[in-house]
Amino acid sequence: MKTQVAIIGGGPAGLLLSQLLHTRGIDSVVLERKTKDYVLGRIRAGVLEQGLVKLMEEAGCAERMHAEGLTHDGTLISYGNEIFRVDFSEHTGKPVMVYGQTEVTRDLYEAREKANGKIEFEVEDVVIHGANTDLPHVYYTVDGEARRLDCDFVAGCDGFHGVSRQSIPLDVRREYEKIYPFGWLGILSETPPVNHELIYANSNRGFALCSMRNSNLSRYYIQCSLSDSPGDWTDEAFWEELKRRIPKEQADKLVTGPSIEKSIAPLRSFVTEPMRWGRLFLCGDAAHIVPPTGAKGLNTAASDVHYLYNGLREFYEKGSEEGIDTYSEKALKRVWKAERFSWWFSSLMHRYPDQSEFDLKIQVAELEFLRSNKAAQQAMAENYVGLPY
Ligand code: FAD
Ligand code: DHB
Repeated sequence: MKTQVAIIGGGPAGLLLSQLLHTRGIDSVVLERKTKDYVLGRIRAGVLEQGLVKLMEEAGCAERMHAEGLTHDGTLISYGNEIFRVDFSEHTGKPVMVYGQTEVTRDLYEAREKANGKIEFEVEDVVIHGANTDLPHVYYTVDGEARRLDCDFVAGCDGFHGVSRQSIPLDVRREYEKIYPFGWLGILSETPPVNHELIYANSNRGFALCSMRNSNLSRYYIQCSLSDSPGDWTDEAFWEELKRRIPKEQADKLVTGPSIEKSIAPLRSFVTEPMRWGRLFLCGDAAHIVPPTGAKGLNTAASDVHYLYNGLREFYEKGSEEGIDTYSEKALKRVWKAERFSWWFSSLMHRYPDQSEFDLKIQVAELEFLRSNKAAQQAMAENYVGLPY
């Protein structure tokens, strides 16, 4: 089989790239290791920046998002007995969109299917060959049958555990990593959200986040120990702990119910450089991971897709290699800013096992500064709604 762009990974980055290329008549094949149901069953991000909203519009996949997504103009932050709001619209003129990653992915799959886009599911043993030549090709197996896909370019959109990053030789690749000493325990429940905007809570028992997917679907997270497993937490224990970490006014009105999903995510900051090797381009979690505080993971995957899509478009439409030649540099500049913001917001909101009295005082001073200083709120708002592409 032959295509113009071989896309490894049918998560949001791979699907969005494939659909955007399709709008310009550029052919791609998506190779996905899991089934479609499995990909759609993963509950992950929930807050979309305007940049991703615009890309979904450009991809022709924004109708349901605009009908069902929730526009948020600000967020609440609590610590001790204090609670304050950061107004995104006042500081940036931009809101964010609350719409689940699952829904983004579902809309993209639907669009790809409508356009007869080629997606191979349950592919195994993907190996990228000749990435640093003019004739890259990908070997893989489906149902035990070996196949070969010839292409002009390979987009490595296969997440943190994929093969694409590993295909770049170690003497070319440089990796930067920070592991955080806690995780997030998240639950999804068919209950009305406790508040119409998100609440990020720094409490002396650890971080908590009240989020949502729609008016009867809530997403809540609490900081947990890395040694915990979801089975250690009954729903009752989760709700009790959440109530202890959020302001009393919200705790009193929290509607609880059975969880329909419960999982633990570790927190990690990770960047690999460069994001391009020959004709192989890394996109999204394949190249970088942020801790989830601030919801930058999916949004940063989307900004990579923006740079790569435009680079490939210029190549096919104008014969220009400038966009693909500057892809890694442009993408990494924005990636590092998202890394900085996610690291800062994580540091501000969590309890660290080795935190000293001094560290705690500094954390409170930083929160008070953010509460009382317009310039600090502006900086936070600009990062939260998404820095320009
Ligand atoms: P992925 O979504 O990981 O997609 C990669 C795809 O490639 C997958 O479908 C995978 O099956 C496939 N694949 C992997 N290896 C291969 C292979 N060898 N061959 C073929 N296919 C392969 N971000 C937020 O902003 N907020 C959150 O609350 C949040 N929660 C998260 C919770 C968890 C548990 C995780 C893991 C991430 C979370 N993120 C969150 C991050 C966000 O979901 C990711 O940044 C986003 O999914 C990145 O999209 P992607 O397409 O780059 O990668
Ligand atoms: C969600 C996750 C986040 O990490 C975040 O900062 C905001 C919202 C969510 O899953 O809804």
